[in-house]
Amino acid sequence: MEQNVNIEILDKLTKFCVCKCISRATVKKAIGNGAKTIEEVKKVTGAGTGSCCGRRCTPKIQQLLNEYINETPLPLVR
Ligand code: FES
Repeated sequence: MEQNVNIEILDKLTKFCVCKCISRATVKKAIGNGAKTIEEVKKVTGAGTGSCCGRRCTPKIQQLLNEYINETPLPLVR
């Protein structure tokens, strides 16, 4: 329980897309709601549309998608 709370807090504080201030929690929520590709995550969240054009955040989004596809459980985001 406490570990899940800590993960949720870290997810909200960790910026996946620094350019657009998109948190890991937002990306996880998009994936949890059915986004299955980088393009879908970017469309839903706005990540990857900042000044670096996704060079910094795209690998992180891909890694999270890979974890999700490999059925690593994602903590629920409220
Ligand atoms: S970090 Fe996502 S667009 Fe730059």
